[in-house]
Amino acid sequence: MQYYDERAPEYDEVYFGKGPGIPEPKSYGKDVKAITGICADFGHGHLVDIGCGTGFWLPYYINNCKDVTLIDQSQKMLVECQKRVKQLDTIANIRFMKGDFFRLRFFMESFDAALVAFFISHLSDEEGLFFNKLKRLLTPGAEILWIDGSWSPIRKQYREREGIQTRKLRSGREFQIFKKYYEANDVKMLLKRYSFKLCSLYMGDVFFAARTELSY
Ligand SMILES: C[S@@+](CC[C@H](N)C(=O)[O-])C[C@H]1O[C@@H](n2cnc3c(N)ncnc32)[C@H](O)[C@@H]1O
Repeated sequence: MQYYDERAPEYDEVYFGKGPGIPEPKSYGKDVKAITGICADFGHGHLVDIGCGTGFWLPYYINNCKDVTLIDQSQKMLVECQKRVKQLDTIANIRFMKGDFFRLRFFMESFDAALVAFFISHLSDEEGLFFNKLKRLLTPGAEILWIDGSWSPIRKQYREREGIQTRKLRSGREFQIFKKYYEANDVKMLLKRYSFKLCSLYMGDVFFAARTELSY
């Protein structure tokens, strides 16, 4: 949480291949363009964005939704996200929830769509807890978009596939975080393990986007 709090003002740089990104700006440009296109076609009803960060994907999906709940445990990320929301021209109802997704309690809510971007790749033992909690929050037929980091020949030149990695802020301050990257087969296996059906998969050199829904 401390890492994301401190990184919040510079977080979006990663989408341009800067900051903690690998030095392949063209790959970031290509994948961001492809995935914003996927977001533009995603979401309906009440959408929950889990670990929303600065809300980078929000402008692309928001007009498909009636209500959006943005969840993050980092106050500073939510501040950046609020700035983004102020610039949007939308009639959707937007609500912020600050807290740890694993501890937050949802009483009456159920969601028709869920966006989970660059969140699951930070989980190790909690993966099962995450998918099981997500399932309980979804309406029948809900759609899910999972965006995360790809394990590709380009990535392999700069990163380890899984484990504790160092992230450096502009200030020079360093943090150790857990992170993993996924090949297409990893995405398919993980979704199958937790009973999600894969509807489509975009695999780029740096990012992937998996559209999925619960299988019954
Ligand atoms: C890598 S960022 C991704 C931000 C955003 N989804 C995006 O795609 O740009 C991960 C975000 O998840 C948040 N986060 C991490 N663990 C969390 C938890 N247990 N509950 C709520 N938010 C969490 C962090 O604060 C951070 O903003």
